[in-house]
Amino acid sequence: MSSEWQDRWEERYASVGRLWSGEPNEHLTDLAAGWRPGHSLDLGCGEGDDVLWLASRGWRAMGVDVSPTAVARLRSRSAERGLTGVEGAVVDLAAEPLPAGPFELVTSFFVHGGPSEGSILLEDVLVQAAARVVARGRLLTAVHCVNPPWHRHHSRSFRPEVLAADVLARLPEGAWEVETCAERWRDVTGPDGEAGRRSDGVVCWRRLS
Ligand SMILES: C[S@@+](CC[C@H](N)C(=O)[O-])C[C@H]1O[C@@H](n2cnc3c(N)ncnc32)[C@H](O)[C@@H]1O
Repeated sequence: MSSEWQDRWEERYASVGRLWSGEPNEHLTDLAAGWRPGHSLDLGCGEGDDVLWLASRGWRAMGVDVSPTAVARLRSRSAERGLTGVEGAVVDLAAEPLPAGPFELVTSFFVHGGPSEGSILLEDVLVQAAARVVARGRLLTAVHCVNPPWHRHHSRSFRPEVLAADVLARLPEGAWEVETCAERWRDVTGPDGEAGRRSDGVVCWRRLS
């Protein structure tokens, strides 16, 4: 049975030929370029730019999203590029279990959730995901902290240090550390060409044992 959130995201993807840039998130490429490939899972992967980037660097890369159109785009773009080891699945993170893994890396980029019923609570999803990560593996997320004035899509924004501490407090004691916790600013352009600034919070937890 589809939820209001699934319908909303599916409509958004189905109304355009492509919703996102086609480029991987720079928070991923900056951090993960030197990491040894393994099995990865991207939560709320959208059209799969991050999944495809990881696969192109040797990862066995899986992406899940609530939108069937987004997941179909991930699959077709992976086939177009001849990438192997890519898997896409339609999963509602608010209602269904995460893939079992285990994973060397679980990522989630800009899956903020909102206040209405049926939406995900990001902290809950990250804690569930952490249980699928192997020792020495990583859990990486990026979220918006400060939005430009024209931005009204997301109900939640985050402080990276608060998110890092909240999730760490819910993980097995002594088994994880916060490897990266940063606020990164960038220039952005609004729908009418106006200049603005936005900050993202980037948090990476590493499993020690
Ligand atoms: C802002 S987009 C980010 C997409 C991608 N991670 C990126 O950075 O380009 C948020 C994504 O989360 C997905 N999403 C929202 N709620 C979800 C849920 N309950 N289960 C799975 N995916 C969800 C949406 O379909 C959408 O693709």
